[in-house]
Amino acid sequence: MNLVSLKDWSTTDIIEVVEGSIAVKNNPEGYANATSRRSLAMLFQKTSTRTRCAGEVGMTQLGGHSVYLDWRTTNFALADLRDEIRVLSAYSDAILARFLKHSDVVQAAESATVPLINGCCDRYHPTQALGDLMTIQEKCGRIEGVKLTYVGVHNNVCNSLITAGLKTGMEVTVVAPEMNPAAVDEELYEAARKAGTYTVSDQLHQAIVNSDIVYTDTWVDMEFFTDPAFKEEKERRIETLSPYQLNAELLVGQDVLVMHCLPAHRGYEISGEIVEDPRSIMFDQSENRLHSMKGLILKLLGAL
Ligand code: CP
Ligand code: NVA
Repeated sequence: MNLVSLKDWSTTDIIEVVEGSIAVKNNPEGYANATSRRSLAMLFQKTSTRTRCAGEVGMTQLGGHSVYLDWRTTNFALADLRDEIRVLSAYSDAILARFLKHSDVVQAAESATVPLINGCCDRYHPTQALGDLMTIQEKCGRIEGVKLTYVGVHNNVCNSLITAGLKTGMEVTVVAPEMNPAAVDEELYEAARKAGTYTVSDQLHQAIVNSDIVYTDTWVDMEFFTDPAFKEEKERRIETLSPYQLNAELLVGQDVLVMHCLPAHRGYEISGEIVEDPRSIMFDQSENRLHSMKGLILKLLGAL
């Protein structure tokens, strides 16, 4: 079993990981040897704080081991991706891979002979969505019927929230004047629209009023944030998106929880004041990346 996108997963499997992750969080000692003598290979083409630490620390807390591979210091760049993934499969019990391109995630999953986890590509971020579902279950006591509005640039994180909504009955409204071209997945939007779990809106205030949760993410994905070739586009986006910043004025009087996958770019998609606001649950959310990664690893290794 792989995790390329939650699109490929059943509702039952998703809920099992969410509930398992909460169980692991509440009783870490009970799982201290659950992956004893097993190894997770972690291959990263992009930077990471949360996903890398969740995989590395999580595997240690489960009694196993992880090996971190920065793409640039491996021989992946010299070789055929499929060959190197076959090699990693022989050394490890599972692979966590953060590739730039979704097509590479798909190719790696096809070549791997152990479970492969997509650690965030240009189209999906499924491990983020699992942690988010866990956080929503903890904070709201349910997932089905929860109303979440995503504000900003429609990207990989937004897609994974829409997928999570489709599978669980969480209602996702997207207010996004921009979309990352690499993220477009019309088949997903069509399915989620039909299921009644996905709506697009240009009425920001109205969408927030109707929400339990407001969620945002960066306007520029990490691989482009400091890229000189993206400078002009970044400036254009800042100009277009500034009315969509989550700030005290926009959220005044709103009884909502505020989520962000982090890293936050204070002063861009969100103000520092809202990061620190009592309605912000983003640090619980980021802590849950660890617990949910542990739940996911246990599920994929048949140990949940
Ligand atoms: N939210 C998230 O995936 O963070 P990192 O990019 O730091 O892993
Ligand atoms: N959407 C952003 C943040 C993911 C954690 C990105 O891909 O860089």
